Amino acid sequence: MSNDTRQDAATPIVIVGHVDHGKSTLIGRLLHDTDNLPEGRVAQIIESSRKRGLKVEWSFLLDSLQIERDQGVTVDSTRIPFLLGDRQFVIVDAPGHRQFLRNMITGAADAEAAVLVIDAAEGAQEQTRRHAMLLRLIGIRHVIVLMNKVDLLDYDEQKIAASEQAVAALLKQLEIEPSLFIPASAREGDNIASRSPQMAWYKGPTLTEALALVPSPAGRADLPLRLPVQDVYRFDSKRVVAGRIERGRVSVGDTLVIGTHGTTARVASIESWHTAPQISAVAGQSVAITLEPDVIPDRGDLLHRPDEAPIRTARIRSRLFWLRQEPLRVGESFRLRLATAEHQVTVASIDSVVRLDDLTEHASDHVPPEGFAEITLAASESILFDAFTPGTTDGRGVLVDRHQRIVGGAPLIGPADIASGTKAIHPTDSTVSLWDRAQARGHRGGVFWMTGLPGAGKSTIARAAESRLFAQKIDVSVLDGDTLRAGLCADLGFSEADRTENVRRAAAVARILAETGQVVLVALISPRTADRELARQVVGEGFHEIFVDADQATCEARDPKGLYQAARAGQITGFTGIDAPYDVPATPDLHLATGAGSVADVADRLAGYVADSVKLAEATRRRS
Ligand code: ADX
Repeated sequence: MSNDTRQDAATPIVIVGHVDHGKSTLIGRLLHDTDNLPEGRVAQIIESSRKRGLKVEWSFLLDSLQIERDQGVTVDSTRIPFLLGDRQFVIVDAPGHRQFLRNMITGAADAEAAVLVIDAAEGAQEQTRRHAMLLRLIGIRHVIVLMNKVDLLDYDEQKIAASEQAVAALLKQLEIEPSLFIPASAREGDNIASRSPQMAWYKGPTLTEALALVPSPAGRADLPLRLPVQDVYRFDSKRVVAGRIERGRVSVGDTLVIGTHGTTARVASIESWHTAPQISAVAGQSVAITLEPDVIPDRGDLLHRPDEAPIRTARIRSRLFWLRQEPLRVGESFRLRLATAEHQVTVASIDSVVRLDDLTEHASDHVPPEGFAEITLAASESILFDAFTPGTTDGRGVLVDRHQRIVGGAPLIGPADIASGTKAIHPTDSTVSLWDRAQARGHRGGVFWMTGLPGAGKSTIARAAESRLFAQKIDVSVLDGDTLRAGLCADLGFSEADRTENVRRAAAVARILAETGQVVLVALISPRTADRELARQVVGEGFHEIFVDADQATCEARDPKGLYQAARAGQITGFTGIDAPYDVPATPDLHLATGAGSVADVADRLAGYVADSVKLAEATRRRS
């Protein structure tokens, strides 16, 4: 008997398609024609179709599931099970486009096969291309293309073949080789669960016959062992290491390497509570083992055999499916989630971005929302991983932001190859720890990002706070917009793109300084929310957004540099507050109103806030 749980499980399939190409109708039709709908449900669909003067509208099934989901009636209708003969399948769906995409990249869908639904009369659309890219990215092995709505092409063999060829050419570009093209009409039921009398010329399988041919997920017990540590806890006098075996097998007596530490230990026991003692366990099982000697791995450590080591590198090449609403830029930092591990990574380069209209790869300085790219990630320490393998957890990276929101799917390709054009850059890490630096100075580093309209008082307050903080023996510096623009950013103007680059550079410098333990006050208009969010990502921990707030009329009345006047006179264009936008920060970490009150008062407040944020508590300071 196999212990690999995946073997007996339902085969997950995913159905994708451009809106209106017939995905919902197909799901309804498929469930009905395979007798997977209870009688009452069928009657309900027929009745609501009749009420609206329609023939049976199978897509109503999904609508009614959605309503139940909203009302909390069905527990999990994102997995719609159905039986074909005695084989169990499950259609993995998700309410809403974004949730669906997220499930696909995190492996929640983990589909073995995909049905790509295409309106044969209309051909592939933008969404079709995006879905096809996604199928390639997550590496679904069996793609069945359902050429839907062929009734609109009069079931004509030639017309259908022409449409099919266009789709085949598109998929070929993506190196997707579909297992099959099925001419079908989900609405009419042609070639779904029964052969179409309208297309005697078609000799291939129906959709249900094709699904029955999809192989069951392969067992992974014979591959090199990977056991990511989930938890380590004490049990009686023993220390127990718990995790799920992703592949391979583990037996008592095996010698294992403990993650990046490289120490080895022997498996002393495989703990069992309700079953007979185990001497071995395989992929798919969750185990709790004890080690000898009693080393203590960390959560996220990957256990493997000494002669079957995974890839180990601090610079990783990765594919990317980018999900955040704002574009991705070089220099942003994220957490890379990999099985049970999380690593801090920075986007070192964007190597190519796919243009969706023709699926060709191009150089670009950003990845747009829902864009596909190849990128290089730099970590501050070596990461152990296997290259992404479809249908497995191997190399299935997910990027999350500091709110633990998923922002991208990152199937890891391998170590960044210096020869193949990626820049030969190897960031080094300081051997002086942040803690030691903080101890020496009595405070931590931090970045205090002051944003506001021109004339709101950013520079004035920053300078006043700087001298106060210095007097308190805090190592502080100011990165001021005008000063940076006189040097480091002298090549930049005030277009949206240049302002973004201005922000990125300032953030990159601020990060370097903060990492050496300095307190950095950045005084930059930084008018766009997305740019400030970029700064936050670049800086990472210790970033504070400070809104220096004076209304536009006040700033214009102050006009310290005469620039508002120049802008009104049309001598400068794109001036923030006049003819260029300023996004007011929605939830700044500190709000400083400068309209009333003295500079000294506001500077005191800022200095107080900064000192509170960075000073070490007396108790944690080392006495020298
Ligand atoms: S930011 O928008 O890119 O963050 P930054 O703070 O670096 O701007 O620079 C703003 C300074 O540049 C202003 O204080 C002002 O002296 C000067 N400046 C010149 N032209 C403009 C403009 N069109 N908009 C805003 N500031 C301008």
